[in-house]
Amino acid sequence: MARINDNYLKLKAGYLFPEIGRRVREFTSANPAARVIRLGIGDVTRPLVPAVLKAFHAAVDDLGGTENFHGYGPEQGYDWLIDTIIEKSYKPLGVELKTSEIFISDGSKCDCANILDIFDLSNKVAICDPVYPVYNDTNVMVGRTGEANDKGYYEGIVYMPCTAENNFTPAPPAEKVDIIYLCYPNNPTGAVATRDELKQWVDYALKNDAVIFFDAAYEAFITDPSIPHSIYEIEGAEKCAVEFRSFSKTAGFTGVRCALTVVPEGVTAKTAKGETVALNKLWNRRQSTKFNGVSYPVQKAAQAVYSDEGWEQVREVIDYYMQNARIIREGLTAAGIKCYGGVNAPYIWLETPEGMSSWDFFDKLLQECNVVGTPGSGFGPSGEGYFRLSAFGERENVEEAVRRIREKWGK
Ligand code: MLT
Repeated sequence: MARINDNYLKLKAGYLFPEIGRRVREFTSANPAARVIRLGIGDVTRPLVPAVLKAFHAAVDDLGGTENFHGYGPEQGYDWLIDTIIEKSYKPLGVELKTSEIFISDGSKCDCANILDIFDLSNKVAICDPVYPVYNDTNVMVGRTGEANDKGYYEGIVYMPCTAENNFTPAPPAEKVDIIYLCYPNNPTGAVATRDELKQWVDYALKNDAVIFFDAAYEAFITDPSIPHSIYEIEGAEKCAVEFRSFSKTAGFTGVRCALTVVPEGVTAKTAKGETVALNKLWNRRQSTKFNGVSYPVQKAAQAVYSDEGWEQVREVIDYYMQNARIIREGLTAAGIKCYGGVNAPYIWLETPEGMSSWDFFDKLLQECNVVGTPGSGFGPSGEGYFRLSAFGERENVEEAVRRIREKWGK
């Protein structure tokens, strides 16, 4: 009989967002008249901007004629998209990249999971707590960990608590690790890392021969000009960091699917025999074998994000969400709820009122205010007692949600 990958059985519950979906469905079927406002999963609500839509349509039309028809594209993505990203997104930061160092994909979630393919199980991995659950769960799935303990920590992973005391930005661990996951602006806490804080990580990685997986999915939401948008703004990162970026939140592509992973040629790791190998070569091999690239119209739509018109329109949508973030943060703070994030990130991380547990607050908020958020403990044990609200909503819903929460818990 075929055998399963037993590591999947080590996973504690279902993936966080489907579990939230299940509870919300249960509530709405029992209360069909309730007007439920969803600020749980960070899913965009604003439509694609006109410049993107136009390019998308035109590319679909290309596929309808023999002259501009496109079949398989390069597994790594079309050069015209990659070169536009380098020119418009990295050059202005003073970051030089080669075309061969960027890989277009259908999502950062997949990439930050798939990258584990090219690493040995013996690597020691460090993960923040709370954290985007994909980093933790995919390490469990591939078999890098033992079982979880009572708190929910898996044996073999080095957890770095992110608490109000450390401003949700932990310092590098005292012990030596091989792979570090960082996400800034942070999901779920909305915290950002300064240049000095990122430098500490780059210095640590260079000193310990470690690799940093830097998830920059929310970089477009940074409002403070002193905060770096890319890890490559820090000298030396081009030798130790892989960066993930996404069009999902930046340009409303959660349903369209397009992202990019940067693997500079200078980032290396060792073979079992101790030889040095460039990760770029291995990732390219992995993608060429297991992936057939992102569709041509989607890449054309992504390229249009960087046109003058496209960028202006996309910025307006980002500003709209960041106004939502301000409304949530200020509204709840005024009601006496302690809030973090929401200034350089589309997430507000709040302390649950009356010392409630995260899931208790989730249920109460759903049942009594008909508002959906994400329980902090779903992102890791140190998220207990916290709660995440997403700013990716329609304005009237955000205002109404804040009004309902204030009415219930406001002082
Ligand atoms: C979230 O809500 O944390 C995100 O939407 C999840 C994701 O980007 O996959």
